[in-house]
Amino acid sequence: MARVVLGVAGGIAAYKSAFLLRLLTEAGHDVRVVPTASALRFVGAATLEALSHHPVTAEVFDDVDQVAHVRIGQEADLIVVAPATADLLARTVHGRADDLLAATLLVARCPVLLAPAMHTEMWENPATAANVASLRERGILVLPPGDGRLTGTDTGPGRMPEPAEIADLVELVLHAGPEALRPDLVGRRVLISAGGTREPLDPVRFLGNRSSGKQGLALARVAAARGADVTLVAANVDGPPPGNVRLITVSTAEQLRAEMHREAKQADVVVMAAAVADFRPTVVSDGKIKKKVSSDPEPVVLSRNPDILREVVGDRHPGQVVVGFAAETGDANGTVLDHGAAKLISKGVDVLVINEVGADLTFDRPDNAATILSAEGGQTSVPRGPKAVLAARLWDIVTARLADPGSGLG
Ligand code: CTP
Repeated sequence: MARVVLGVAGGIAAYKSAFLLRLLTEAGHDVRVVPTASALRFVGAATLEALSHHPVTAEVFDDVDQVAHVRIGQEADLIVVAPATADLLARTVHGRADDLLAATLLVARCPVLLAPAMHTEMWENPATAANVASLRERGILVLPPGDGRLTGTDTGPGRMPEPAEIADLVELVLHAGPEALRPDLVGRRVLISAGGTREPLDPVRFLGNRSSGKQGLALARVAAARGADVTLVAANVDGPPPGNVRLITVSTAEQLRAEMHREAKQADVVVMAAAVADFRPTVVSDGKIKKKVSSDPEPVVLSRNPDILREVVGDRHPGQVVVGFAAETGDANGTVLDHGAAKLISKGVDVLVINEVGADLTFDRPDNAATILSAEGGQTSVPRGPKAVLAARLWDIVTARLADPGSGLG
């Protein structure tokens, strides 16, 4: 359990802060909500008090005997401001202390995570851009906003990341510290595949696998938060994709293959986190296959799918980092790690993330454990924890390689 301060500034996205508050308390954290006076015009203090079990005020002159304007910031393990408006960013840059939230931010020595939300024009204004750059220089974490529907009919960058995404990143910072979200992927183009392919048998049925895509989504979310320009090729993922990535939706291995080849040409990093079916039904029936009670069922004949990762490695351009995933179980021929080490070599990847699968170890879970191997022999064990933590460890290894391709760091 951590002591989290949830700051809420005055923008329409303030209504979503109640959902974020709920997620943070459900995760077991003690959450103090500090809204601005304008935020309280969008969401009522009663809602925030009921959900946080703490009194809520925007004023520095309430509870003066408790010295709240200093104490709340001093006691916090993490402060997250969602939404962070253009005005809140500007006030924070200047170290203002003109309300309880600004004062709390000025006192804080803990990690601070800001989730901006504003109209596109405000986000793109050079004043806001300079404020964001200045805050990031001081180590304050400023998430890139999503690109999507804004208050009115307009769309564009400026949408607050969804509460579940912010809650995930809060968990990451609490587990792994603010370095897990340092902006070291700015200017890098990252291509990630996620989910599991579905190979159709007929218009109704398919051969699939148990991948939920949660690990790939976490990789995309953390890379975007670290500043990367992310393209996510998503095959049947379970959960909303991050709003600040470019999303390409696919279903079959063939579709995934075509998109990966097209997109890999521009990518600095390619991560194949998707579970690709190794085989597909040779014949896909146009109509629904009937049960035909009087005869035995027809056997399903399978054809081999291409190994997309191997093809991507074959087409790799100089300096590009290619990461594979390995889903392994131990058997008489070797341990999970033995099989993984052999796969690293046979696939020719720079980095391989080895997951032990089976018995509810990985699929459709919020947490994961893995060993990350690099081509030069590096080995990093990531103990069981949130999938975002594994994602952050992988990006640490990838950014070290991008900075120094020959180092084999990790
Ligand atoms: N992969 C791929 N194309 C395939 C199968 C797998 O690109 N047709 C990629 C996966 O995305 C993953 C890596 O290869 O990054 C390893 O996948 P895995 O299922 O562990 O291995 P396979 O190559 O299928 O080998 P095996 O099933 O024999 O373990």
